[in-house]
Amino acid sequence: MIIAIDGPAGAGKSTVARRVAAELGVDYLDTGAMYRAVTFGVLAREIDPADARAVIEVCGQLELDVGVDRVVVDGVDATSAIRGPEVTSGVSSVAANPEVRSILVELQRAWVRNRGAGVVEGRDITTVVLPDADLKLFVTASPRVRAERRVAESGGDVDAVEASIAERDRRDETREASPLSISAEAIVIDTSEMSIDDVVADVLWRVQG
Ligand code: DC
Repeated sequence: MIIAIDGPAGAGKSTVARRVAAELGVDYLDTGAMYRAVTFGVLAREIDPADARAVIEVCGQLELDVGVDRVVVDGVDATSAIRGPEVTSGVSSVAANPEVRSILVELQRAWVRNRGAGVVEGRDITTVVLPDADLKLFVTASPRVRAERRVAESGGDVDAVEASIAERDRRDETREASPLSISAEAIVIDTSEMSIDDVVADVLWRVQG
């Protein structure tokens, strides 16, 4: 069984994907962590994430190991750094780079081929990477709710966080290369008024009946 999950930042899709994978006893791939890992490698070489040519060159050379609990880039543990502010602000430019996308999409498809099952989560998984997945989900929530969840987790001002979430959505939805969009075949789950437990139960019910 291959489950593809897309959705905007902060909708709860990583938590849902991780928990569903654990319940089903299959592996989980966080493709956002792959774009973040490339961004980490780019910044480590003091390259501007907006310098498309230099970024492509680096991307082809990086040694990426994106695991569930650990991300290693060129032998350096980048697990926490990929969630930090430098990577978070540079990742949109890296993710807008079509050649970086095609390299990572191939790695993502190979990950699935090697396992034959799994939960893969990102922005273009149901539309581009795995349009033939057995179950395609679009997990979303209102920008306000996403901001409130982020603030409950790591603090900050809810209005400012909401504004930055809305800005990242806008960039992800309007970029030319594989913009975030909802596949006509995807089931939309709005988690604004659901707990994570509810969402996980809903997905498992769709898988197992
Ligand atoms: O889910 P996240 O916040 O870790 O994603 C980081 C960035 O990567 C975000 O700007 C969206 C982008 N991304 C993408 O373009 N395609 C994916 N499949 C996954 C993430």
